[in-house]
Amino acid sequence: MSVTVRVPAKVNVQLAVGAARADGFHDLANVFLAVGLYDEITATPSSQGLRITCEGPDAGQVPLDRTNLAARAALALAERYGREADVHLHITKDIPVAGGMAGGSADAAGALVACDALWGTGASRDELLAICAELGSDVPFSLVGGAALGTGRGEKLTELEVGGTFHWVFATAGRGLSTPAVYRELDRLAKGRDIPEPVADQAVLDALAKGDADALAVAVTNDLQPAALSLFPELTDTLAAGRAAGALAALVSGSGPTTAFLASDAKSASDIAGVLRASGTCATVRTAQGPAAGATVV
Ligand code: C5P
Repeated sequence: MSVTVRVPAKVNVQLAVGAARADGFHDLANVFLAVGLYDEITATPSSQGLRITCEGPDAGQVPLDRTNLAARAALALAERYGREADVHLHITKDIPVAGGMAGGSADAAGALVACDALWGTGASRDELLAICAELGSDVPFSLVGGAALGTGRGEKLTELEVGGTFHWVFATAGRGLSTPAVYRELDRLAKGRDIPEPVADQAVLDALAKGDADALAVAVTNDLQPAALSLFPELTDTLAAGRAAGALAALVSGSGPTTAFLASDAKSASDIAGVLRASGTCATVRTAQGPAAGATVV
């Protein structure tokens, strides 16, 4: 018997970052949109204790030990229910690794839902969400999917209405960026400046609710973008290539280095993807639509 769970990637359509807190995290107003690029996590009983395997183009970059967030999710659930984490987790990886699209968080949420189903723990959704929040700031959203405003360090979610489908193009870079490094660079760049409280932008929420891509394009913001570009200046060329190809908006996805391009429709997304592929400014190019459902047993 095994259980497979499909979990989406995310893009941040607003990422407002406050000052560094005493615990080192930053308060956020983080508007997440789940998009249809998925990892799949299959949980199977194991007689050799906890095992992780991974397949996919970036599989070589995924740790297979207990530092993997999926392993930590299984261990956290097992501990909560006083049982052994005797499970084999197989990750079929399609979300870019270290890309700012919450791939690691997706695997954690997927492993949690898969182990929960395999072990029949009967945990409530709130219990699962609490474990997600302990595992990482973006993990609760990977469970929930759709669109949501994340406050606190991004883990306190308010689900949002979305009135249509948004068409995106994502360009991966040749290497990853470490999220803590990007936040550290943000702090360095912001030194001496007064940093306002992060608040959700009504224009972003209205654009999502209406499904209005033109309105969303002028409203999107990412406070981590200057820090990501400072660490990875070549991304400026990728953003420019996407804009020149007709993207309504071009931005760094979360902490990067994946870049995200909002398109007016599926045809435009496909055209922009073609231009980006030929531009020589990025590694791989994908199209995806949002919103997408959260962690789902398949
Ligand atoms: O929560 P998560 O483990 O994904 O966070 C990774 C790192 O990103 C943290 O260690 C911290 O450096 C940074 N971070 C932050 N403020 C947040 C979320 C993440 O400073 N709200």
